[in-house]
Amino acid sequence: MSSRKPKKVTIVGAGKYGSTTAQRLAAQDIVDEVVLTDIVEGLPQGLALDMNQSRPVEGYRTRVVGTNGYAETAGSEVGIITAGLARRPGMSRMDLLAVNARIVRTVTRELVERSPDITLIVVTNPLDQMTVLAAQVSGLPKTRVMGQAGILDSSRFAHFIAERLGTDILEVKAMTLGSHGETMVPAPSQCSVGGVPLTDLLSAEEIDDLVEQTRNGGAEIVAFLKTGSAYFAPSSAAAIMARSILNDESMVVPVCAWLSGEYGLSDVYLGVPARLGASGVEKIVELDLTESERAGLHAAAAKVVEKVEEMEQILEGVEYPA
Ligand code: NAI
Ligand code: 2OP
Repeated sequence: MSSRKPKKVTIVGAGKYGSTTAQRLAAQDIVDEVVLTDIVEGLPQGLALDMNQSRPVEGYRTRVVGTNGYAETAGSEVGIITAGLARRPGMSRMDLLAVNARIVRTVTRELVERSPDITLIVVTNPLDQMTVLAAQVSGLPKTRVMGQAGILDSSRFAHFIAERLGTDILEVKAMTLGSHGETMVPAPSQCSVGGVPLTDLLSAEEIDDLVEQTRNGGAEIVAFLKTGSAYFAPSSAAAIMARSILNDESMVVPVCAWLSGEYGLSDVYLGVPARLGASGVEKIVELDLTESERAGLHAAAAKVVEKVEEMEQILEGVEYPA
């Protein structure tokens, strides 16, 4: 047995999103441990046992450690925060705000206390506000706190494009920016199919329809599931972000990141393409957007600022456990 420090990722929340992310990360076999923590007694422990027993069949070594505490999380390189309520039919992401803010605030403190060098990937909705909150509470450099939404939304956009054109999904490149919600900014100028610009393949109205479908992508699944929200595609997104950070892969992907002048925007968390490596967000990549996409990005930034102010008002005077 080696005495070196185990390479570790922690996932907070062993619900649908957290557990599928744990399984995806474990199967990648790039860390020694995936720690899965949740307030429900027995849930993370049972899931960990089940996942660990799939290792001989799947052929990987990473252990999942299930716990209701945080001692086991100490020394984590990456923390993925999925704890909170999922959206129910008819419920907006903002409805989740007060309850999930309380949870995110508490779990962020617990993580950073034991892993001061951690990089955080926030997943809990409403995503943009929860990312801001985690950054505030953690005291970490903004480059080490980011949110997951853009990879998922881009992937949904790619799916709808492939279905519409009847093409190979793997030939489709799609990109969405902005916020995870009504002010999501799908960027058709950055989309192509087999190298051909999307704008050469579909009319502006047809693209608008797909953009609308993408904006409603999460709600469409909620309406089918009735008791929860999507988790297969979402967990793929969080797992690949974690992989790029853990392996220092410098992958460029759309994430909710802190802007300091890029795209003419400052002091706001927004979905933009970023290079993810060992130090977190290493660089924001500035794409050559159309005027209307750029305007959409600015409108999304203004909305995030508004929602953060709203969150701060809601949270004013609300007591939290230390
Ligand atoms: P879920 O209800 O299956 O799981 C949530 C888990 O969090 C539960 O097991 C619950 O016990 C746990 N939890 C609650 N309070 C906790 C605390 N204080 N400490 C530790 N664990 C705690 O929900 P699901 O489907 O896993 O979704 C999780 C979150 O992710 C939701 O807020 C959902 O809206 C969001 N989401 C975000 C997406 C994105 O693209 N950013 C996509 C899909 C979901
Ligand atoms: C989604 O987009 C609900 O944010 C979640 O699936």
